[in-house]
Amino acid sequence: MTELAVNPLQGRRITLAVTGGIAVYKVCELVRLLVKSGADVEVAMTEAAARFVGPLTFEALSGHPVAVDQFSGGMPHLALTRSDTDLLVVAPATANTLAKAAGGIADDLVSAVILGRACPMAVVPAMNDRMWANPATQRNAALLRGDGVAILGPACGALACGVEGAGRMLEPGEILAHVRRLLTPQILAGRRVVVSAGPTYEPIDPVRGITNLSSGKQGYAIAEAAFEAGADVTLVTGPTALAAPVGVHVVRTDTALSMKKALESAVAGADAFISVAAVADWRVRAASTHKIKKESFKGADPVLALEENPDILHDIAHANPQLYCVGFAAETEDVEQNAQKKRVRKGVAMVVGNDASQALGSDMNSVVFAAEQGSLALEGVSKREVARRLASLLAQALDARGPGSRNAA
Ligand code: CTP
Repeated sequence: MTELAVNPLQGRRITLAVTGGIAVYKVCELVRLLVKSGADVEVAMTEAAARFVGPLTFEALSGHPVAVDQFSGGMPHLALTRSDTDLLVVAPATANTLAKAAGGIADDLVSAVILGRACPMAVVPAMNDRMWANPATQRNAALLRGDGVAILGPACGALACGVEGAGRMLEPGEILAHVRRLLTPQILAGRRVVVSAGPTYEPIDPVRGITNLSSGKQGYAIAEAAFEAGADVTLVTGPTALAAPVGVHVVRTDTALSMKKALESAVAGADAFISVAAVADWRVRAASTHKIKKESFKGADPVLALEENPDILHDIAHANPQLYCVGFAAETEDVEQNAQKKRVRKGVAMVVGNDASQALGSDMNSVVFAAEQGSLALEGVSKREVARRLASLLAQALDARGPGSRNAA
C-alpha cells in the first residue's frame, strides 16, 4: 500500500525558473509559500525577469544564491536540476519561454535549465490574452503537454495590459496546490470521489435558522487530499467560511434536503462518497415565508415543530451498493465501538469516529478509522493528516475492488 506522506513538500527539491513578466512579483509569494511548506527552493531568472524583481529578493526568500548569468562559472544550467531535483517550475512562463521550451532552444540560462532538466516540469503561463490565444502559443502548449509537461492555467481575469481575458497567471496559493498534487503519488488517479462537508442550515423564517458548529475544515481537507492524490473530486458543502479548494468542483447547498439532492446527482458514476457534513437531524416543519414577529406569540413561549431529515449517508449507500461509502461520527466516549456500530447500522464500508470535544472548529483531530477489517487510531493529528491517511486507505480499498470508473476515463 502506498501511504501518502503527511506533507508532500517536506524536504523536496524544487527549482523555480522565473521569466520576464509583471507576474514576477507574485512569484516572490510562491517562493515564500513553498519554503514555508518545507521545500528546498533554488531560483534561476532570466535577465528580463531580474528587471522586474531583483535577484536579491529571491535570494532572501529562498535562502540560496540566485542564478541569472549562464556564463558565471561552473555549469549552472546543469547544476540547477540535478538528479535529486523533484520538480522544475517555470513561473511566470512567457510566450517566448514556452516557444523555446517546445522547440528545444537553449540560448540563455533558464532555457538551458529547461532543456537540461532531469526531472518533471510544470509551467505557469502568464501573458496577454492575444498572445495566449495565438495559434503558435497554443501549438507550443500542446507540444509541451504531449511531452508530459504540466501546464498550470492560465486563468481568465483582469490582465496587466488593462483587458479581461485568458492569460492571467494562477495565484501563488493555486500554484502551490498544483505543486502539492504533482509531488503526491497519484494513488486515486482515474477515481471520482464525492465529499460532503460543513453544517446544514434549516430555515425558521427568511432571517433565522437552525445550524451547528461544524467548520467544514475536515471535509475540505479530505477534498483537497483526494485532489492531490489524483482524484476527480466534487465537494458538496453547506455554508462555511472556507475558500473553495483548488481543483475541486464545489456545489454549494444549505438545507439537508438540498444537500441530499446535490449529492444524489454528484454520486452518479462516482467510486466513493465521503460523508463528512454535519447534517441537521431535524428541520422546521413549516418554515415561515415571512419574518416571524415577536408580537405574534402574544407573550407565550414560541414552540417550533420539527420533523426528521432523511439520513443522507444511509439512503445514498443503500441506493448505490457499488459506491464505497465512508461516514463520520462525532463521539464523546467509546469512539471505536460507537463508530463500528454506526458503520453496521448505516451499511457503509467505513466510519471515521472522531473525538467531538477536540474536533469542532479546530485544525486538529483524534480519529479512529473503523472498517470491517478492523480499526486504526490516530491521536492528536492535523485534519490534513487525517485526510491524507484516509486518501491512502481509500485508494487501497478501491484498488482491492477493481478498476471502477478508471475504465470509463
Ligand atoms: N448523516 C447524514 N444524514 C443525516 C445525519 C447524518 O448523512 N441526516 C451522516 C453524516 O454526514 C456522518 C454520519 O451520517 O457521516 C453521522 O451519523 P449520525 O448518525 O448523524 O451521527 P451522530 O450525529 O454522531 O449521531 P448520534 O447522535 O446518533 O451519535
